Amino acid sequence: MNKRILLGITLILGVCNLSSQTIIPIHTDRTSLIFSVEPDSTLSFQYYGNKIQDCSYFIGKQTYRRSDYGTDPLAYPTAGGRFFNEPALSVVFPDGDLNTELKYIGHKDSIIVPNEVYQTTINLVDKKQKLNVSLVFKSYCENDIFTASTIIENLNKKDIRLTRFYSSFLPVKANRYYLNTFYGAWAQEMNMEQSLLTHGIKSIESKKGVRTTHTENPSFMLALDEPLQEETGCVIAGALAWSGNYKINFQLDEFNLLSISSGINPYLSDYKLGHKERFVTPEMIYTYSDKGAGQASRNLHDYARKYVVYDTPHELPTLLNSWEGAYFDFDENVIKKMIDDAAEIGLEMFVLDDGWFGNKYPRNSSKQGLGDWQVTQSKLPNGIGALVDYATQKGLKFGLWIEPEMVNPQSELAEKHPEWIVKAKGRKITTMRNQWLLDLSNPEVQDFIVETFKRIMSENPNIAYIKWDANRHVESVGSDYLSVDKQSHFWIDYTKGLYNVYSRIRSLYPHLLMQACSSGGGRVDYGALKYHQEVWTSDNTDALSRIFIQYGTNMIYPASVTGSHVSATPNHQTGNQTSLKFRFDVAMGGRLGMELQPQALKPSELTFARNAISQYKTLVRPLVFKGDLYRLLSPYEEHGFCAYMYTSKNKSTAITYVYNLKYQGRTHFPQIKLSGLSPQKKYKVKEINTMDEKSVFWGNNQTFSGEYLMNEGMNIKLTQCNSSAVFYLEEVNQ
Ligand code: DGJ
Repeated sequence: MNKRILLGITLILGVCNLSSQTIIPIHTDRTSLIFSVEPDSTLSFQYYGNKIQDCSYFIGKQTYRRSDYGTDPLAYPTAGGRFFNEPALSVVFPDGDLNTELKYIGHKDSIIVPNEVYQTTINLVDKKQKLNVSLVFKSYCENDIFTASTIIENLNKKDIRLTRFYSSFLPVKANRYYLNTFYGAWAQEMNMEQSLLTHGIKSIESKKGVRTTHTENPSFMLALDEPLQEETGCVIAGALAWSGNYKINFQLDEFNLLSISSGINPYLSDYKLGHKERFVTPEMIYTYSDKGAGQASRNLHDYARKYVVYDTPHELPTLLNSWEGAYFDFDENVIKKMIDDAAEIGLEMFVLDDGWFGNKYPRNSSKQGLGDWQVTQSKLPNGIGALVDYATQKGLKFGLWIEPEMVNPQSELAEKHPEWIVKAKGRKITTMRNQWLLDLSNPEVQDFIVETFKRIMSENPNIAYIKWDANRHVESVGSDYLSVDKQSHFWIDYTKGLYNVYSRIRSLYPHLLMQACSSGGGRVDYGALKYHQEVWTSDNTDALSRIFIQYGTNMIYPASVTGSHVSATPNHQTGNQTSLKFRFDVAMGGRLGMELQPQALKPSELTFARNAISQYKTLVRPLVFKGDLYRLLSPYEEHGFCAYMYTSKNKSTAITYVYNLKYQGRTHFPQIKLSGLSPQKKYKVKEINTMDEKSVFWGNNQTFSGEYLMNEGMNIKLTQCNSSAVFYLEEVNQ
């Protein structure tokens, strides 16, 4: 539909008030979120799903439940009154009142980006206490995305205490609910798991404060009625834009209604609000698809690339990272040789990882030096600058690793500023990977990080990329900076402090490329992506593990943000042995890099790598960064294959990846039915990354119709365990 007409309709239908009930619809191009204001001023939830343009039919809708207040779905339920399920908000008021009962006082529609992004703010107040609550919804029309956040404002003269403060509350009605979440641990993140929800509460959460996404990611896909399918079925996908503790609850209640409350984790986080202070929650992102998980992912990916990921139009450079090739064991010559080799095989950037800093306590292992951000003279006598210049001469960009939130006990920084270290008074400070955490709730620590960053950048102005690491989480919580009555603010103020640092750095270095690393996989969230162009998907670079990790990660996050490196085999995380081709075929599914000692490669492997990198840059990368993801075969299913593809928006090119993950005998061959092509178009299919020019597809270099490729598909001779193939498809006019 013409967007101007849609805008007109949206504004006209901003309020439907055909009786004493007011309907508030919020639309995207294909979906609607609908609320109603009841005659007693209660704000009720009515609907979320495919678009219902004419909302007038919701007026007078009966649920046939007991008419008691508390049994119909509320838009933002609060603790107290008659509400008995998990509330979105709970407050302790100065007079000891534990009840909050919100009533509607008005709402406002506004245009954020004409024809693209709209905002509806619904204002509520407590019936007795001086408390304002605003529900803020943004609709991203083309991508069918809603975001929800809440602003809580205390107008009491005295402090109030918030004990729950979720961003969003979403009731869902279906016959069955299949919840898909992403679980794991360090080096095995984003594994997919599906469960049929039963009555009660299922929650996913983090209480780690930092590195919050290793164990469970703050995102999900909820399949309604039937288990999750790629191309069919109704799916609600959600993701929270917050890099601290989070909690997402799925409560299936006595009416078989599922309520999703999501936001910052209230765990040990009671938050005091003084007079006129406001608490602004992070945004919860939702999309609805009636075309399965595939469309839900594509909605999220397009939204992320257009509105969330920092400075997103870039196609990020291919790179060689020093970590798994050199670890702490390098000097200037070693690094220069790696730069030579990176240039030789056509990579575009070199990233110097951990181990370049500290003089009193040189960082020769993870045991010391963290926090002392001066270059180690004995290792790099000519400084980082000499390496940046060397890389630049070779035509490479230069990137640098930092871990500014952390400190080793054995460091000058820890000696100088013990008060900056996160610790509980009178208790032992625990180390993790030999390090302590700096207290980012303290503005002095925030300033230290920004000043350190500025110094490094001013000493080496040509640094193009920063890998921002964080290798421990919060234990024995406590802050020397926060007052006794605000210790529970730590978790939230840490993340706010981090965001303050990020945004100050961003205003100083708007074009710098930044990766959210966090031990790999530890800060994979829509909050961090507002400040970074990419994440380090996992510390596990083993290609077999990565197939599962990347498949899960790209359910929610676009491939353009997922760094993926070719490393040695077996590498230090697993004992798996795979061919260089297999490792390239996997790493080429995201932002391609290498993380090994190129000197260890044979001449034939270097030739293969050079060719693969060149094809990635010209044919593959534009599709990874800007294309649409279509998943074809899930590695999580029994068949032992994985396949997916990216197609260009105009469907004229595509790249298809196929992996054989287990021994299949000579009986099972993958039959890959492609997706996302134009049935009428003709495509030339060309296998790339072949080892000896031999293709595993009988129709290599031949032309097929989209109709053929999507219905009959490609039958491929991929017989060996851990073998793979990548095909480039290009439209031909015949
Ligand atoms: C953890 C990161 O994820 C690795 O890639 C590497 O940078 C190490 N830290 C360095 O200490």
